[in-house]
Amino acid sequence: MKLRDTGLGFSPITILIHWIVAGLAAWMIWSGLSATYGDAGGKAGMVYLHSIAGVVIFIISTYRLWARLSSYHPLPIGSPNPIEVMVSRSVAVGLALAPVLLPLDGWLMMSAAGKAITLPGGIVLPALIRPNVEVEQVARLLHKIGAYAFMAGLALHIFGAVKHHFVLKNDTVRRMLGKRVEL
Ligand code: HEM
Ligand code: HEM
Repeated sequence: MKLRDTGLGFSPITILIHWIVAGLAAWMIWSGLSATYGDAGGKAGMVYLHSIAGVVIFIISTYRLWARLSSYHPLPIGSPNPIEVMVSRSVAVGLALAPVLLPLDGWLMMSAAGKAITLPGGIVLPALIRPNVEVEQVARLLHKIGAYAFMAGLALHIFGAVKHHFVLKNDTVRRMLGKRVEL
């Protein structure tokens, strides 16, 4: 089995990770918004589920970011406009980076608030710093800005996928679903 991406195609691992991370990212956005704007009674439970999934997405995405930066990237399909290729690749790098940075910031936010991150099995992540209100406020603001920038990038990314599939009618989305495409 091809373990790494090449200039000709994505490895099955990249494809599997892409869709697992897409599902987890949807959960992170929904649970983060519910924790922030939902009823106060359910907040602690939502933050708990949000942080457990955050640890999982962080581990998978750290591997993915390393693989993305250390492998060749498959060539785009067809003959796209170079500006569009640059924009879509920059957005994809941002999307690969966000699920690594947002969990680190979430961990910092929780540590600064003096709240422990408890995982199933009773494992408690060590606090990154001592409780500190100023750091907590900055980390919370960065989490908000980062999460909304991530959602904007994701909207652009999905718009690109829809355009490739329905307007340009090429195999870009099918290749991300595992189809072998001859370039
Ligand atoms: C419904 C949601 C999504 C759709 C339809 C979608 C679609 C696609 C497609 C078609 C490609 C291949 C582009 C190419 O051939 O160059 C791609 C690549 C990529 N997507 Fe998505 N995507 C979605 C969600 C996400 C999410 C949530 C993330 C990140 C958290 C993400 C990150 C990436 C990255 C980093 C790449 C480049 C390949 C890689 O390094 O893994 N995508 N996506
Ligand atoms: C890919 C990873 C993550 C994404 C996409 C994400 C997304 C979000 C979003 C959209 C919100 C709502 C923000 C707002 O409207 O103010 C939020 C809130 C929150 N997130 Fe995350 N998050 C991630 C990882 C984490 C992790 C790993 C933790 C903790 C370890 C965490 C802790 C929190 C907390 C405590 C809140 C509530 C903040 C408040 O009370 O205002 N997040 N997150």
